[in-house]
Amino acid sequence: MNDDKRIFIFDTTLRDGEQSPGASLDEKGKLEIARQLAELRVDIIEGGFPITSPGDALAVKKIAKEIKGPTICALARTIQKDIDVALDSLKPAKRSRLHVFIATSAIHRQYKLNKAKHEIIRIATESVKYARNRIGEVEFSPEDASRTEPEFLYQVLESVIDAGATILNIPDTVGYTTPFEYGNLIKGIFDNVPNIQKAIVSVHCHNDLGLAVANSLAAIKFGARQIECTINGIGERAGNAAMEEIVMALDTRGDIFGGRYTNIRRDQLCKASRLVSALTGMVVQPNKAVVGKNAFTHESGIHQDGLLKLRKTYEIMRPQDVGFGETKLVLGKHSGRHALENRLLKLGYKLHAKELEKAYNDFKILADKKKELFDEDIEALVDTQLASVPKTYELIHLSVATESGKDPRVSLRLKYKGKILSAEGTGSGPVDAAYKLVDKLISRKVKLLDYLIKSVTVGKDAQGEVTVKVEGDLGKVITGQGLSTDIIEASVNAYLDAINKILYRSTSSKKGSAAHGV
Ligand code: KIV
Ligand code: ZN
Repeated sequence: MNDDKRIFIFDTTLRDGEQSPGASLDEKGKLEIARQLAELRVDIIEGGFPITSPGDALAVKKIAKEIKGPTICALARTIQKDIDVALDSLKPAKRSRLHVFIATSAIHRQYKLNKAKHEIIRIATESVKYARNRIGEVEFSPEDASRTEPEFLYQVLESVIDAGATILNIPDTVGYTTPFEYGNLIKGIFDNVPNIQKAIVSVHCHNDLGLAVANSLAAIKFGARQIECTINGIGERAGNAAMEEIVMALDTRGDIFGGRYTNIRRDQLCKASRLVSALTGMVVQPNKAVVGKNAFTHESGIHQDGLLKLRKTYEIMRPQDVGFGETKLVLGKHSGRHALENRLLKLGYKLHAKELEKAYNDFKILADKKKELFDEDIEALVDTQLASVPKTYELIHLSVATESGKDPRVSLRLKYKGKILSAEGTGSGPVDAAYKLVDKLISRKVKLLDYLIKSVTVGKDAQGEVTVKVEGDLGKVITGQGLSTDIIEASVNAYLDAINKILYRSTSSKKGSAAHGV
């Protein structure tokens, strides 16, 4: 606590986060998230609201028992029974904190609680005293603080500090405040609550206006030392302040925040985000700051070129810092030559200037039709445009006999180096049977990863286009395509196309071809 630059991260993913509509977590899921929160090195984990259900009480108890490092906290209303149940759940914890709250705003006092100001102060102080006699750390939250009359709020805070609260949390319960206003409120608290130095001021912001992170950061500027937040910003309604954004804002803009820092392991942020998303079923929007799928993906050609010259031109954080993996340059119609050349090099293709020019022109034509070009598209483009793959294996004959109730019988003939190879057999369907025969004839087992069929023309005689993805040498994914009015024939052609590419690549790389070093 001596280091006044240190900001404490109070994670409430398992309590407020779990209050997200549709995001209920079972005890096992909660424990798994708590382990990851400990990996992240959060300072406090709010494990739940034990009075709400026996399951929640048990989850807090298990977290308290197993998780070492962070302080474990449980929420309670200013009701003795709530406090007792929460304290019981916290018993196994090495370090624990009780968090008690009561609403203080006029609207909540009148319509929800039907209590006068003096009653609120009495209940709050009695509860804090009761809790403080039983546990060393008590946090108090005046719910809806940001809509509470400031003078009354100061009075409440002063009283609960006298009663033994050591952390004062100032919730913007309905996400109503704005950064300037909230910053001023925090300043007002420091200026007007005489015993404020005995406590840590915490903030808890909801995101109804999309300002939860901005409000929390404004509060830090005015002396708040603890931030309550959740992974991916999940929480009631529009959610809470997102931990990853707070942490990275402080980390990236230490200059603005006077060097204030958190103890969070940034490289664990993406892992935590993915875990929470998987266990709660709450999908992370692609453009979500820090952890979204697109957070480090660059599409514009100008940006891609700049990045390749100097990363900092368009990236203020490194994806590795947050455990994201690598920066991704999405190749699409906005990409330039530089980005294509770079990707081709990564894929093992070193092209001469003329070859690159042709590849780039073909790439632009394809990019006009397809939003995002994957590595396989680029490879297919180079393979077919620059050096069409020889048909090492070619389909000469195919016949399929089907009879209801029996497995289909397929006979197949392939041409290979001037010879004819033939085989006959069955399978669980005609495509399965044909692929098994191909495997047998080429004496090599190919791993089929994906199979897609689509009609490319209309009418009864529509052409079917089959695309397969197979695993080639060194685990590389190779795409093959086949087109025919007969879908079994299209399937075999697609499979052979992929196999021919694998063979072509392995021979050309053995020869050390200038174009292929895969
Ligand atoms: O938003 C809120 O006011 C709360 C309190 C219980 C802290 O979640
Ligand atoms: Zn809340």
